[in-house]
Amino acid sequence: MITRHAITELRAQLAVWRAAGQRIALVPTMGNLHRGHLRLVEQARMQADRVVASIFVNPLQFGPNEDFERYPRTLAADQASLQDAGVDLLFAPSVAEMYPHGRETLSSVHVPGVSEDLDGAHRPGHFDGVATVVSILFNIVQPDVALFGEKDYQQLAVIRQMVRDLHLPIEIVGVPTQRDVDGLALSSRNQYLSPEERTRAPALHAALKAVAAALDEGRRDFEPISEEQCKVLANKGFDVQYLAIRRPDLGLPDATTQRFVVLVAAKLGRTRLIDNIQAPSG
Ligand code: PAJ
Repeated sequence: MITRHAITELRAQLAVWRAAGQRIALVPTMGNLHRGHLRLVEQARMQADRVVASIFVNPLQFGPNEDFERYPRTLAADQASLQDAGVDLLFAPSVAEMYPHGRETLSSVHVPGVSEDLDGAHRPGHFDGVATVVSILFNIVQPDVALFGEKDYQQLAVIRQMVRDLHLPIEIVGVPTQRDVDGLALSSRNQYLSPEERTRAPALHAALKAVAAALDEGRRDFEPISEEQCKVLANKGFDVQYLAIRRPDLGLPDATTQRFVVLVAAKLGRTRLIDNIQAPSG
């Protein structure tokens, strides 16, 4: 596996592959890789001749009181796991390489509508930061296909809309959420949990499953269903920011809606966790 920190050197390598007619996949990450990220790489290998992964902890998408400084940075271990997973090229730029003119005058990508509620409401500016860095990565790498996890369901929806609106010639592939055996969705932020919090954390997935079961049974009283599970979570010490029943396109459901996505964000101690599931499943 080749590692490149500079955009010009990355592009020189990509030009060689493109000249040979090879199809290129991109897996954008912030590093501190786990099995969820590696599943994206596995899928990428099935979609393309060459797999590029990026590791960049993007300051634009962190709020002033969020965890940018303490976000885990584990480049050596990440390089080893990406190499094992069959990545051809790792792009690991510095902040100065990505934003050489600083943030003050940086052009920004805003995706109206889908980025504005749920996580967008609780993390002002977050999805602008995501859409901006992902569009920069797309411009640098110019992949044929890019893969994102359904774990960050709203992020995936924001990126799909950005690609659609800007007519980017990139196929977007969503990959199902990878979980621990007890149901907790894998996340780099899980390591912030104390051992005691970690034992309570799977309640988040359990609450989503309970909402999905109610929908599967035919209940359509959306507010009471989510209220019940908010209470369950609150009793277990979660500070619930939202527990929402939506259509797959994140619009509000009505009595005729057949397919749903249930999304939750909650703090457990200092750690903010998000998760979602689709109903009916599969
Ligand atoms: P990061 O949190 O590192 O996640 C990188 C990719 O891995 C995202 O597409 C995310 O949805 C996916 N992922 C994370 N946990 C997963 C899990 N348990 N199962 C399946 N996929 C999972 O998301 C970001 O980075 C950033 O916002 C980024 C898109 C890189 C832009 O900075």
